[in-house]
Amino acid sequence: MRIAIARDSAFGFYYPGDLEALEAAGAELVAFDTLIDRRLPEADGLFIGGGFPESHLKALEANVSMRTHIRDAIEMGMPAYAECGGLMYLARSLSWRGEKRKMAGVIPADAVMHSRPQGRGYTRLRETGKGPWPMRTEGGGRAEFAAHEFHYSSLENISGPVEFAYEVVRGVGVDGEHDGIVYKNLLAGFAHLRDTEANRWTGRFVNFVRATRESGAYRISGPVANQQDGAKANVSPWPDQVSRVYLVGAGPGDPALLTVRARHLIEEADIVVYDRLVSDEILAVIPPGTTRLFAGKAARDHFMPQDEVNELLVRLARSGRRVVRLKGGDPFIFGRGSEEALNLAEHGISFEVVPGITASTGCTARAGIPLTHRGVSRSVTFIAGHRQDGQDLDLNWKALADTKSTLVIYMGLSNTGEISRQLIAAGLPGFTPAAAIERGTTPEQRTVITTVADLPDCVKNEKFQAPTLLVIGEVVNFSENLNWASAVVGCGLEAHG
Ligand SMILES: C[S@@+](CC[C@H](N)C(=O)[O-])C[C@H]1O[C@@H](n2cnc3c(N)ncnc32)[C@H](O)[C@@H]1O
Repeated sequence: MRIAIARDSAFGFYYPGDLEALEAAGAELVAFDTLIDRRLPEADGLFIGGGFPESHLKALEANVSMRTHIRDAIEMGMPAYAECGGLMYLARSLSWRGEKRKMAGVIPADAVMHSRPQGRGYTRLRETGKGPWPMRTEGGGRAEFAAHEFHYSSLENISGPVEFAYEVVRGVGVDGEHDGIVYKNLLAGFAHLRDTEANRWTGRFVNFVRATRESGAYRISGPVANQQDGAKANVSPWPDQVSRVYLVGAGPGDPALLTVRARHLIEEADIVVYDRLVSDEILAVIPPGTTRLFAGKAARDHFMPQDEVNELLVRLARSGRRVVRLKGGDPFIFGRGSEEALNLAEHGISFEVVPGITASTGCTARAGIPLTHRGVSRSVTFIAGHRQDGQDLDLNWKALADTKSTLVIYMGLSNTGEISRQLIAAGLPGFTPAAAIERGTTPEQRTVITTVADLPDCVKNEKFQAPTLLVIGEVVNFSENLNWASAVVGCGLEAHG
């Protein structure tokens, strides 16, 4: 039975006698490093003692993978014990000297370091009966014992009801009255216990870890790296090392247009797999410690083939890392998000699709072009303006040549000649307004306003490049009055606006 124990420069305060007592009670202590390791070691329980997390704020926050892993393990019922510094690390955030950094986020509160001690000296604790491994007293009453506390931090913004393992008879604890926050199988307090006759906490903790392991409550099966001689592997607290893949829409380019969910997932990811449409500004949102993988154009301008991307996502999910597949715009609009989702489903890997603002709505909003307008355009059609095999576009041009509808063309830049010709041949007047929007919603957005007949020459003269979105329909005229954001270039004319 193994207990993972944080032993690094952020956490290292343990009474040697307690460690010996844990071992004597049958635990194998497996050290891990909260600053460097990416995951917990294979273990049945967790112990994070006191230390100086405030001196390692940045590094603790940057190790998203470890924070996430610890949170997931506790969420899934891993028995865990934390004292003081460990409690601070398990809080939502830790602030010191004006710097606030994210922590593991298990305890729904923010830890704040102050310049003066918040609790110092001997405390006396009485059990409430709510702790996961309570002490049994002979008469069945509540046990009481001494401990000590020495902390400059306090817990603030405690959200939601919190259960406590102890009433503070003397001392400060969390709120002057209680200590030992209980959450699932976690007990985290400011008090440092010392294994004595009076409390024997190490034996109680080890017995609880053993009983939880034996109950199979969070055990997994399957081989692990350190399996030897065909012996049954140690078990781990996360179900099968397979994590969920998040197919996330990054929107058209401006990070302010990311959804709240997208931003949160990007910040919490272990690894972000992104494509070429994801703007530099959005890539800058990815925290420094997070691995990034580019699945767009690889060497010599070859795209990473779709089946390679599919395979990569499956492999990463199976490595247990939190994977965000970040795609430009919306994953389900010309984004192959559905192909990736189908492949994940086929492999039994769970996924979540997070919609994004698609280029159509993002770019046109920034160019002052409403996609519909009462009395002008009553419908809007999105089409893909290219075919991978280089053949003619196979579209119902007659249906698309509708003066009362708006036509938005993705990936159409290199086929503007054919698009313009086919629409006019199908009956759309050549003077129908048309726009091309390049790098919409980024600081480099350019918009050209012209007619469907002149569109091909226009984008050529102005040297428009991908990504460019084409919009055709009477609604384009509104840009003259509604364009509030981007530079508009007339064909071959000077930029204005
Ligand atoms: C493969 S599609 C991906 C569409 C994406 N899933 C979405 O919902 O916006 C790529 C095409 O989207 C359009 N596009 C995407 N982002 C754009 C942007 N910021 N500005 C202009 N066009 C954009 C271009 O037409 C580009 O060729």
